[in-house]
Parts: sequence; C-alpha cells; structure tokens
Amino acid sequence: MKKLVMVTAYDYPSAKIIDKVSVDYILVGDSLAMTILGHPDTKSITMDEMLHHVKAVVKGAPNSKIIADMPINSYTNVSLALKNAKRFMAIGAHAVKIEGAKFQIIKKLIANHIPVIGHLGLLPQTAEKYSVQGRDAKEAQQILLEAQKLDSLGINALILECVPAYLAKKISNAINTPTIGIGAGIDCDGQVLVLADLIGLSDFKGKMIKQYTDVKSIIKKAVTEFKTDVISKKFPGKENTFV
Ligand code: KIV
Repeated sequence: MKKLVMVTAYDYPSAKIIDKVSVDYILVGDSLAMTILGHPDTKSITMDEMLHHVKAVVKGAPNSKIIADMPINSYTNVSLALKNAKRFMAIGAHAVKIEGAKFQIIKKLIANHIPVIGHLGLLPQTAEKYSVQGRDAKEAQQILLEAQKLDSLGINALILECVPAYLAKKISNAINTPTIGIGAGIDCDGQVLVLADLIGLSDFKGKMIKQYTDVKSIIKKAVTEFKTDVISKKFPGKENTFV
C-alpha cells in the first residue's frame, strides 16, 4: 500500500507550497505554539490562535485535506469539544485531531459527522517530559487497547508519536485505521513531520526528525547580504528605482 504523507503548516505561504506538492494531509498542529509563536510548549495555545492559523492554511491550500489540532483547553468536556470542533469545520478544516484516549468526546464528534484524527503515544499537551512511550509491556498493551478502541469508534487516521517501532507495527497490523508515525518506525501506514523541523527552521533536534534543508542559514545569508548592500549603498540599484 502507498504510504501516507502528512506535514504541518501554519501560514498561507507554506500552505500554498505544500498544496502544490500534494500530500495526503496538512496538519495545523498545536506545535504552532513553539515553532511560530515562541511559546515554551503546546500547553498555553488558545482556540483563537489556532483558528487564526487554520484560516490562513485553508486559504493557501484549497486542494488539501486540512486537519485542525484541538488545543488543550478546547475539549475539556464533550459539549465544549463539539462547539470548538464545529468552529474549525466552519472555517474550512476537514477534520480535527484530538490527543489521547478521549473516547466519549471522539464518539460525539464522529456522531456529528466531524472526522477525527487520533493521537497516541507521546502526548505533548499532557506529557511531563518528552520520552518514548510504551517501552514496558503494560504501557505497550494500554496503547494497543486504546488504539483498538479508537479504531472501533471510526477515527480517520491515528498518529503514533514516539513509540517503539515493534509496537507501532503491532498496532498498525491490529487496526483498520491508517497509522501515521512520528518517531514510530517504518511500519506505520504513513509519516508526519513538523514543517519547521523538516526545513531547519526550528531548534528541535530529536531522533525522530530528518532535516531536509537549512532554511535558517538561507534566511540569515539573504538578510546579511541585504544589510551589507544597504550599508554600502548598493541597494536600491537603478533597477529598483522609479524615475
Ligand atoms: O502539533 C503537531 O505538530 C503534532 C505532530 C507532531 C503530530 O501533533
């Protein structure tokens, strides 16, 4: 089976580029908090901040399936979750993502025709420290059971973050829902990376990341050249000047 590709985006220009590449899903992840807004973690990001960025991504990626990540305080009970998921759908998201084994909430959203992406393993919204999950047998069994329950509820895809590769493979074989891994090995049905990590814009250097280019250096070089040109009066040249 063809592997699924998911990548995050948070703004109009990057959504436009990714839309042209054509991937299976664009995730407006709450990783927005650290990568773009400079927050220390995902725990403080608000619905308003997420809505603002989902709107921009929707504008930039008219041909893509866009997933809105539900921020931590947006689904503290079933009715709040439904209200906030509807706000994302109303501005053009195609699905919402919910971290953890929130069965009642997920059931309610699906009953209201809102497609849901699950997320198990490392859960950054509640994790005290970032580490591999499911290394001991009891914890691995718990994650497998939760994945099976989410599968039975009818979620559209399941993100597995930072779990041992053998466990991700076992889950992927045990459920019908496609699994999308990040730090979960090659046997998931697809892979997701955070755009800022993939292009070298973030400072995060986790084992699960592959950095494909170094945008930070490219920006630094361009701005340094601009500065030099301005100081040495090379810019604006005749070609940039109106007469
Ligand atoms: O917020 C995010 O970007 C995510 C991905 C790491 C899956 O949840």
